[in-house]
Amino acid sequence: MKIMAGRMDRGFEAYQEEFEAKALEVLRSGWYVLGKEVESFEKEFAAYIGTNHSVGVASGLDALYLAFRALGIGKGDEVIVQANTYIASVMGVTMNGATPVFVEPDECYGLDPAKIEEAITDKTKAVLVVHLYGQPCQMDEIARIVKRHGLKLVEDCAQSHGATFGGQITGSFGDIGCFSFYPSKNLGAFGDGGAITTNDSELADRIKMLRNYGSRVRYYNEEVGVNSRLDELQAGLLRVRLSHMDEITEERKQIAALYDKLLKPEAGAFDKPAKRPGATHVYHQYVIRARDRETRERLIEYLKEREIGTIIHYPIPPHLSEAYGYLGHAKGSYPITEKYADTVLSLPMYNGMTHEEQATVIGALNAFR
Ligand SMILES: Cc1ncc(COP(=O)(O)O)c(C=O)c1O
Repeated sequence: MKIMAGRMDRGFEAYQEEFEAKALEVLRSGWYVLGKEVESFEKEFAAYIGTNHSVGVASGLDALYLAFRALGIGKGDEVIVQANTYIASVMGVTMNGATPVFVEPDECYGLDPAKIEEAITDKTKAVLVVHLYGQPCQMDEIARIVKRHGLKLVEDCAQSHGATFGGQITGSFGDIGCFSFYPSKNLGAFGDGGAITTNDSELADRIKMLRNYGSRVRYYNEEVGVNSRLDELQAGLLRVRLSHMDEITEERKQIAALYDKLLKPEAGAFDKPAKRPGATHVYHQYVIRARDRETRERLIEYLKEREIGTIIHYPIPPHLSEAYGYLGHAKGSYPITEKYADTVLSLPMYNGMTHEEQATVIGALNAFR
């Protein structure tokens, strides 16, 4: 039995009739970009996150770029970013001309609050938290630090739709929350898509203007904006998926709970994911950590021989990527992040995963020596 690390067909099949009916409705509507589906989705998504506003954009990267741009953060400014993230988090900062200042993560892969203050300088304008793999950062402590230093707080929620800390949902803690609806995300579209969430009407309004060539009134352009609009088809399909979000999240939690319960790694070959007290994890990924790099490479090969797919999220941390070579960070600058990059491994995790598939993965992992 071939088991993929992730798959999107099952998530489509679960609500196939509803998706197909909505797609036809939009196709027949005669209106395809920024229309009533987008408006309804923005209202429903804001209600789901518990913010006053949500603004649909073309991708998660655009959400991040527009967030920092709307906050007026640019050249000469520094933004604190956790070092162990997907590179798009950092690009959202640097596309605005601002400088990312990396900070190491804690045991749960979130920005380590104990290491933020030593990275703050008189140029620091904001902190970007990434609720990586679907588990929220330590938001109480981070919010206190941000407030004490008068900084802006931006959340990268590309992997954390529906995750909570202290009962509050991610995307509602910061000045702006940034979401991706890339098809493999927990709330996935059928193409690219993204959104920002905020309680600030001025920021929401500004992002609406920026996403549409800097225009509020047709053919009147206030600023050099971008074309980053959510289309009607994606918004309509996202509305269908959003209406099932609680079941989608619950199913992922149950798959994770079974991994937690039944995985019994031999002689410390790997560790299961650490859980943050007070947080709910929505398991965009179920990430184990191998004893060392060599063990991880053996594990990947061993699983591959048994037709079980895995993915490394992410093998090269942004500070060591070629793209950010100009920042001049040497290997060894962020040892925790680098250790994670060498040892993390995401196990198969997707909506619609069968018990048989999961039992096969667990059986193989428990027999690994
Ligand atoms: C943590 C994180 N931030 C940002 C992004 C960028 O989102 P998108 O692919 O929609 O541009 C992604 C996903 O790709 C992500 O995982």
